[in-house]
Amino acid sequence: MKDKAQFVPTAGGNEISSFQTKWSAPSNIALVKYWGKKELQIPCNPSVSFTLDQCRTTTSVRFERLIDKQDRFSLAIQYDGKSTPSFKPKVKTLIERILPYAPYLNEYHLQIDTVNSFPHSSGIASSASAMAALAAAIMDLEKQIYPSLTAEDQIKKCSFLARLGSGSAARSVEGPLVLWGEHAVTPVSSDLFGVRWTKAADVFTTYRDTILLVDKGQKEVSSTVGHDLMHNHPFAETRFAQAKAHYQALLTILEKGDMDRFSDLVEREALSLHAMMLTSSPSYILMHPNTIQIIKQVRTFRKTSGLHLTFTLDAGANVHLLYPAHEAEKIDQFIASDLRKYCQDNELIYDRVGTGLKKV
Ligand code: DP6
Repeated sequence: MKDKAQFVPTAGGNEISSFQTKWSAPSNIALVKYWGKKELQIPCNPSVSFTLDQCRTTTSVRFERLIDKQDRFSLAIQYDGKSTPSFKPKVKTLIERILPYAPYLNEYHLQIDTVNSFPHSSGIASSASAMAALAAAIMDLEKQIYPSLTAEDQIKKCSFLARLGSGSAARSVEGPLVLWGEHAVTPVSSDLFGVRWTKAADVFTTYRDTILLVDKGQKEVSSTVGHDLMHNHPFAETRFAQAKAHYQALLTILEKGDMDRFSDLVEREALSLHAMMLTSSPSYILMHPNTIQIIKQVRTFRKTSGLHLTFTLDAGANVHLLYPAHEAEKIDQFIASDLRKYCQDNELIYDRVGTGLKKV
């Protein structure tokens, strides 16, 4: 069933007075990008991502049933052990969006404690992992209330709830490869939630993602604003059609284990995403001079070494370097000697493809 009505629980269920749970969710990097959305993160085109392993958010939630039934949930949030009221509005909005599908939340006070494995100021977006970890904790409470909930339905609804917070969060629940957004070639895929895709050749499940931190600061233009600028964009429809074609082509490439065509397609996707920013109104540029230097060097290195070093970008200046584990030794040397110098404070993050949520 693909209708969102499937996510509305039936009345009744166990009465749980107090429950504590802790989940860790990874970040992800899109190979075919989600850029342009309808209301509540319904994507304008399907996307595919690698789930990461090391870049994670770990969130513990204590649910306390409210004694005097105010019929309204309440929240307290700590980030890195410190009370952070500034995070409250975002989480409140997420919970309000979730309420039609998790009405039991209105009976609880939520004490949320969250930490990221990567530095807050790394220019790495934490919304995908943060929303997925919180959704996982909520789904664990739902499992206590409705014990007949299957593991499969729990995962699916977790991705659905995470999407209501941030689109790309729908892809941070499972791994190593996730599809999100409808496409006729993958009848299991949905606009409402991400699904795991298991047909890729083994080599792609060994991929590394080394993230070059070119700029650790806040992005000049948020993803939310960027998505919005696709509404009156002159190339929007062409871009959505291109992404759909790339999605289909990439799945074939992944199945065949074709690493040369993988590099070609993934890099064109990344540059297409930034081309949308360059040509929106108002236009903006998130790449830095060092981003371009890295891109040029990666392409020269690939040609001369014959190794499969590939770059991709998210909506920022940082560069994700993707390559198979069996080529990592030589590529890691190249990164250290020729690319690291382009990073702010020489900082980079070594990550790899991972499997998704973990209960802590
Ligand atoms: C460029 O998921 O951060 O990383 O749905 O508004 O929260 P919201 O946006 P977000 O957009 C991600 C954009 C991207 C591409 C991608 O991850 O597919």
